[in-house]
Amino acid sequence: MKLLVLGGSVFLSQAVAAEAVRRGHDVTCANRGSSGSVPDGARLVVWDRREPAPDALTGPSYDAVVDVARMPSWVRGAVAALPDAHWVFVSTINVYADESTPGGRPGTLPLREPIVDDVDLSVDPEAYGPMKVACEQAVRDGAASWTVVRPGLIVGPGDPTGRFTYWPARMADAAHPEVLAPGRPDDRTQVIDVRDLAAWIVTVAEARTGGDYDGVGEVLAMREVLEQVAAGCGSDVELTWVPQEVLAEQGVEPWAGPGAVPLWLPRPEYDGMCAHDPEPSYAAGLVLRPLADTARDTLAWLRATPGATVTGIGREREAEVLAAWRESAR
Ligand SMILES: NC(=O)c1ccc[n+]([C@@H]2O[C@H](COP(=O)([O-])OP(=O)(O)OC[C@H]3O[C@@H](n4cnc5c(N)ncnc54)[C@H](OP(=O)(O)O)[C@@H]3O)[C@@H](O)[C@H]2O)c1
Repeated sequence: MKLLVLGGSVFLSQAVAAEAVRRGHDVTCANRGSSGSVPDGARLVVWDRREPAPDALTGPSYDAVVDVARMPSWVRGAVAALPDAHWVFVSTINVYADESTPGGRPGTLPLREPIVDDVDLSVDPEAYGPMKVACEQAVRDGAASWTVVRPGLIVGPGDPTGRFTYWPARMADAAHPEVLAPGRPDDRTQVIDVRDLAAWIVTVAEARTGGDYDGVGEVLAMREVLEQVAAGCGSDVELTWVPQEVLAEQGVEPWAGPGAVPLWLPRPEYDGMCAHDPEPSYAAGLVLRPLADTARDTLAWLRATPGATVTGIGREREAEVLAAWRESAR
């Protein structure tokens, strides 16, 4: 297959290009050349998508294109330039307007209203999901055939966001064996290893699989997630579960950021966000590795990569919140 990856130098799109090269495909990546390198065996065409596509890109024909863009005008332009390929558009579960209903899948959950103009996400991050809705529609309107893949939280080696990475780093910190576990042990959550998602994206490109899919992993209880991460990191930790009311009172942030306990989401508002039904994606060829393997490999990557990002509350703050919980539970 002749595959064009729009991106190819960061986390997911780089993993897609690497997997396609590994399978023997002829891989071209297009990006500005500023964020990282493309995998060995892939060729780079330098392109800033705010400019028209260069002839070096539009001259050859491709069997499939994988695009990770967020800006609707970029997707409209690229689809118009390369309409004959099978398009695999990487969207997001943030396209769904309903984040509270568990077990959703494409077709069962309403979508957000599209935003068709480009919005600076550093100014308005809330435009992300609505712009992805518009990007998806541009692909459906313009491409000969297409797969839309809507990932949930993507994790694993190379993650530039540091969200899931917090947990392997935390579990491996033997000097602080009491670990703050957020919310209730039975709260559901869901992540997908970047390598499993990338492999599946190459598979649907090869098969020209049509339709919309969620790119999500198994739905697990938070307790199983934390236990699997600890097992993968060879850690012997004690989990202390702190209810969400206490976390909120203490000013702990959900989901992501320096003041957050990552993966924690307020309930029941977000009961559905990390509990999508993965069955349609399994039926379309998605294969998952155990989460313990993802945690092990993420920790190894973190240790081997100076400057790799980890985000989440620090140990001192965690100890303060644990102390406050003990005090309030007396
Ligand atoms: N991380 C998650 O948990 C998560 C969850 C749901 C969905 N997603 C989706 O998954 C995808 C992640 O993709 P990713 O990991 O490859 O990272 P990304 O940040 O979406 O894409 C980065 C790639 O785009 C290129 N790029 C950026 N600006 C460009 C420009 N002006 N012109 C040409 N190329 C440009 C970058 O190279 P240069 O900078 O060198 O140009 C790089 O190769 C996205 O679609 C995201 O929305 C992520």
